[in-house]
Amino acid sequence: MIIAVDGPVAAGKGTLARRIAGKYGLTYLDTGSLYRAVGLFLLRRGLDPHDPVAALDAARNVEAIKLDDPDLRNEETGNAASIVAANKDVRAALLDYQRTVAKQGPGAVLDGRDIGTVVCPDADVKLFVTASSEVRARRRFEELTGKGQTVRYEEILKDLEERDARDKGRDTAPLAKADDAHLLDTTNLDIEAALEAAYEIIDQ
Ligand code: DC
Repeated sequence: MIIAVDGPVAAGKGTLARRIAGKYGLTYLDTGSLYRAVGLFLLRRGLDPHDPVAALDAARNVEAIKLDDPDLRNEETGNAASIVAANKDVRAALLDYQRTVAKQGPGAVLDGRDIGTVVCPDADVKLFVTASSEVRARRRFEELTGKGQTVRYEEILKDLEERDARDKGRDTAPLAKADDAHLLDTTNLDIEAALEAAYEIIDQ
């Protein structure tokens, strides 16, 4: 059983995917953390995420990079991740690892941007989770201020829209809804309501 959960930044797909994996006893893989790990690896060494040689080298060693580093979640790392994610060689280098995890044990829930379209086109269930950019920016703002970070809503909204444009506009595996994916718009849903909707789709 493979469940693909795709969508733009801060749509709620991470929380949804983790909870779905728990309910159905599946492995959970946050594929964004792989791109973030590559971005963070480069930033820490003072390397440019636009540098294709350095980025590919980092991607080939992604399994050696800690995927639970707290700095993975910060905005600077997210931006670097979005830059390396536009590199087709980096994407190819991360593909095998993602497919291996997907096939482990009873199955897996993968969340990302291209799971339903590229990584697992034969996934049993595909969800495309989205929400308006204002609502996504508001959620991200609350998450970050909740962690004690000082951030401006306008800046988060601008960053988020830039990242959306980069994720959708790249040539390789752009963020897109697979034709056979179920659209789950969480603009007016809280997490519990979104989960109910997701379970209903999966159980069908
Ligand atoms: O979901 P996230 O914010 O952790 O993802 C970080 C970046 O990684 C995002 O800007 C796009 C990229 N990404 C991707 O291109 N493909 C994936 N499957 C997952 C993430």
